[in-house]
Amino acid sequence: MTASLEQLRRCHFAVDLGAARTRVYVKGAGLLVDQPSAAAVNTRTGALIAVGELAEQMTGRTPAYIRVVRPVNGGTVVDIEMAQRMLRQLLGDKVRRALRRKARLRAAACTPHDADPLARRAATETLVGLGARRVELVDTLIAAAVGCGLPVERPEATMIMVCGAAATQVAVLSLGAIVTAERIPVGGEAVDHAIVQHLRHQHELMLPSQSVRPLHLALSGNGLTAQGPACTEIHGRDVATGLARSVRIDTAAVRDAIQTPLTAVLDGIGKVLRDCPPDLVADLADRGIMMVGGSALLPGLDEMLRQATGMPVHIAERPDVCAVQGLGAMLEGRIEPLALDLMNS
Ligand SMILES: Nc1ncnc2c1ncn2[C@@H]1O[C@H](COP(=O)(O)OP(=O)(O)OP(=O)(O)O)[C@@H](O)[C@H]1O
Ligand SMILES: [Mg+2]
Repeated sequence: MTASLEQLRRCHFAVDLGAARTRVYVKGAGLLVDQPSAAAVNTRTGALIAVGELAEQMTGRTPAYIRVVRPVNGGTVVDIEMAQRMLRQLLGDKVRRALRRKARLRAAACTPHDADPLARRAATETLVGLGARRVELVDTLIAAAVGCGLPVERPEATMIMVCGAAATQVAVLSLGAIVTAERIPVGGEAVDHAIVQHLRHQHELMLPSQSVRPLHLALSGNGLTAQGPACTEIHGRDVATGLARSVRIDTAAVRDAIQTPLTAVLDGIGKVLRDCPPDLVADLADRGIMMVGGSALLPGLDEMLRQATGMPVHIAERPDVCAVQGLGAMLEGRIEPLALDLMNS
């Protein structure tokens, strides 16, 4: 179902179901939910034990009968029933009661660029299960561009890069529509995975997933590029003995390890630029790239892009919530009624 701004203005709430985080904007109330897309389930009874932040903290720490599940994978809802249960719990009784009072509940959701019909259907069904009679879908790239205040409707090109957990989406927008776009199945998760694998192979150290963030910081300074501290100490568990151990690791080697996923992202940007009409590429040289999504905060990623493309690179003010805030702006009617092509299909 392709949305129009008119239809979106009639929606009561908007959902961005991400691989890492779930965000919900309720019309008139704002962004009410921003929590990890996780649910902890009792495998004996099927009961939901925790969702969001609490479930995320349980990851890797549960007894055998509790399992932490992630109903969204690679930007697609893979377990519709669990996603519905998670969303119900995250919204809480008060908000759910308020939404249930609407005569014809309408919802909006953003789906990844080039999401296939099954993925779109899964997003729609998830919200129908929450009581929505009608669900409007918007391309994440458009939602995020609106959310970070890019002048998408002008006849000049802007480039946006949505750096999510499961994927990176890059697009050139002009006159409210996507001119060219690319979805690269590499995001923050792939970067973290490359770091974990590097430590396992080079230092025989297992790293809890939550400990990757401090290592990101060690890469900062000039980050993924050459400078920054040469060494950093990291705590983990010895692969062979299982005992706690800390090692000093060479940040340059970690930087090398994450080059592989980042090269795929750079290739994607190159492809988008190659497919873009020359007049628009000239605009881009001035305006540069706007980075949004949680992984835009990866220290030094912006500098790396600057060096690789030679273009100005900006990070949005709250990059992680741009997509859902963009949907929110559409719900509240804060967007001029111009021809936004909401779903490039
Ligand atoms: N300060 C930070 N430094 C480095 N990485 C970060 C930071 N904050 C968030 N991230 C990364 O951003 C990712 C989450 O981004 P985001 O919330 O945009 O994902 P998502 O919308 O759930 O995913 P997707 O859009 O791919 O489905 C995670 O991989 C997380 O590790
Ligand atoms: Mg996202």
